[in-house]
Amino acid sequence: MSSASAPGKVVLFGEHAVVYGRPALAVPVAQVHADVEVSESADAGVWIDAPDIDLYTELSTVPPDQPIASVIRNVFQNLGISTFPPLTIRITSTIPLASGMGSGAAVSVAIIRALSCMFDRPFPDETVSALAFEAEKFYHGTPSGIDNTVVTFARPVYFIKSNSPIGRGNRGEGPFIETFQVKKPFTIVIGDTGVPASTKESVGDVRRLWQADPPRWEKVFDAVGDIVQQARRAIEVGEVDVLGPLMDANHALLQEMTVSSPELDQLVAAARSAGALGAKLSGGGRGGNMIALVTLEKREQVEALLRAAGARRVLVTTVESCQT
Ligand code: MEV
Repeated sequence: MSSASAPGKVVLFGEHAVVYGRPALAVPVAQVHADVEVSESADAGVWIDAPDIDLYTELSTVPPDQPIASVIRNVFQNLGISTFPPLTIRITSTIPLASGMGSGAAVSVAIIRALSCMFDRPFPDETVSALAFEAEKFYHGTPSGIDNTVVTFARPVYFIKSNSPIGRGNRGEGPFIETFQVKKPFTIVIGDTGVPASTKESVGDVRRLWQADPPRWEKVFDAVGDIVQQARRAIEVGEVDVLGPLMDANHALLQEMTVSSPELDQLVAAARSAGALGAKLSGGGRGGNMIALVTLEKREQVEALLRAAGARRVLVTTVESCQT
């Protein structure tokens, strides 16, 4: 038997603009995770057992564009295995689905790790992330790759997608990924609207806006990129208070991109009125989660007001100092 876990994530700054080559900052959220167990099966075939999405089926019956099936097939192909052994792949997750917290990426990463370990050939992180990225295309259409990256490396990342004029890749190919220094830890409250939302749709809608008026939206994406750079600097020098207004400014630009929603705006307003230093939606938007930057004194008040304003679930995570 072999097993693996992968964390959820939140985008701190830069979602959507990251699809257009601007940088973004994201952190893992260890309180939620996807877990995969691979075991030998008594029955022939590769059995996918994913109770959270009511899926219990044999691999050959699943269409090739189903993300979970595509990941499994891709792993076998990379291992050079063409005759599939009898296996059961059990997938569970505490990451809310379609919530902007990277549940698809975490499931992919955990499958890739558990399956490659089962055959005593654990893949390096770069391969894990690259294979998860292939599945992200089925979930997201045109993903930047930030979700699979932060979930695979499980550390704070400053990310620029590959093929971007400013993201030439750390080794000349692939995305540009750096871990940023966190001089002073800071605490984020994550509020879930409980409204499932498709990242594919919101990314597609932003693409249609951009196609209709590229100069306008390039300016908006540039403004988001500036916010991300300022936020990274503030985190690196420990000026945490600066992050609050930057979150507010990033949220306003996401509203302009039409990816917020009444529920998200309500939670963002509730967090601010409870004393959060700043708040914004996180991820694809239109539903899913928002984040608020809090001081330790205001943390409980923000949690309480988010619940009162309709948050289905509230998590708290502290972004800790970490090495490059
Ligand atoms: C999703 O976590 C972030 C988006 O920018 C999509 C992507 O980058 O693939 C909305």
